[in-house]
Amino acid sequence: MSEADAGRIEESPSREVGEPVDAMPVNDRRSSSVEVVNGDMLLLHSIFYQGKTLKLAGTHTHIYNVVFRILKHVCKKVAQLTVAFPAGWDNDKPDSAKVASLCKIYNRVAKPFASAWSGSYNTDTLDDWGERNCTQKVAIDITTYAYELAVPRPADLNHYYKSFTSETYGETNLEQMASIIDELNIGPQDVLVDLGSGIGQLVCFTAAYAKCRKTVGIELSQTPANYANDLGDYFKKLMNHFGKTYGRFEHYQGDFLNPKFKKLICEEATVIFINNFAFSPELMFRITNELLQDLKHGTRIVTTKPFGDHKKELTVRSVGDINAISHTVELKSLDYGVSWTAKQVTFWLTTMDHTKLIRYYEEERRKKLEPSGSRERSQVTEKRKLDHKERDNRDTSNLNRGG
Ligand SMILES: C[S@@+](CC[C@H](N)C(=O)[O-])C[C@H]1O[C@@H](n2cnc3c(N)ncnc32)[C@H](O)[C@@H]1O
Repeated sequence: MSEADAGRIEESPSREVGEPVDAMPVNDRRSSSVEVVNGDMLLLHSIFYQGKTLKLAGTHTHIYNVVFRILKHVCKKVAQLTVAFPAGWDNDKPDSAKVASLCKIYNRVAKPFASAWSGSYNTDTLDDWGERNCTQKVAIDITTYAYELAVPRPADLNHYYKSFTSETYGETNLEQMASIIDELNIGPQDVLVDLGSGIGQLVCFTAAYAKCRKTVGIELSQTPANYANDLGDYFKKLMNHFGKTYGRFEHYQGDFLNPKFKKLICEEATVIFINNFAFSPELMFRITNELLQDLKHGTRIVTTKPFGDHKKELTVRSVGDINAISHTVELKSLDYGVSWTAKQVTFWLTTMDHTKLIRYYEEERRKKLEPSGSRERSQVTEKRKLDHKERDNRDTSNLNRGG
């Protein structure tokens, strides 16, 4: 990271990592306590088409808090489900025992209710929650629930990271990711790889919203990689509970520069996401030389710090650098699209374009050929002129001789 970048980060008031989205009131969504409960399994019957019962181990208070928010969310849409609840059930934050009791009452009502509904997508009552495919809002809400189940105290993430190193933590907001997916039209035809995927929330969100053929996250640090595995497990349970379809996804712990990932990155990936804002110049150099140079034609790379210097002109000096085989443009960025700064961070799109270099060499060859080509052409013309002159002279002397 350059000094200028470091200054920019220090000046900016840091937001809480992964600030919540709008499905629930903000103060409802953050779990403040993570106490051990060791309660029974929490079960929530699904009222969603093809949805599965949500089964969560009631081990910690934050699990109960999230389940309570899900209950409130669903009951707000289907008021009949609350008929057996005690009055004022949703007024304040109930303790774990009360949430467990609410789940039991809910299931008694939800089971017959859901079977009467089976076979329908229920969009009249459930609006976009009744669809098999996730809208942007539904994908954000489900990923956020998974996040909250997996990461009870997001602020703790900052403690695991060394500040101002390549492993500095920071998250891209899901709304920002949705805007990138929309702008680049990322979808089932794509394989997206998040290089440095942190706790893996973007991977899950992309699997839900873009339904890529495959979405993969690679994270170096063990602690966020562990969170990513938990988040992925909770995400699958929630998607199944809400009856939603999603694309295949994988989380790996490791160094994305490790040759074992090369085939995935250079041969399979069609979109690469790198939140490299805090990456060191050394790491940027290695990514450029060990990965980007070998990407296939057409691969799109989304970054928070641009690769290359967007030189338009290709010269003999620049044929060896990334500009020779790619072009870079600025993407639309949302305000506060990342977690670590209150300032807007620009996202960049670099597209691998090997035709640039081919065109450059063709042009160079043409230039080299042109002078000698025209020289040859003028030599031929000159010779033809001499031949004509000689013939004319011969004819004239024959005539003079009277032949
Ligand atoms: C700023 S976080 C981005 C998290 C996520 N992609 C997002 O945008 O929300 C950058 C991540 O890159 C990881 N990282 C840095 N160097 C890495 C490497 N060589 N291999 C894998 N991960 C790396 C860091 O540990 C950190 O979690």
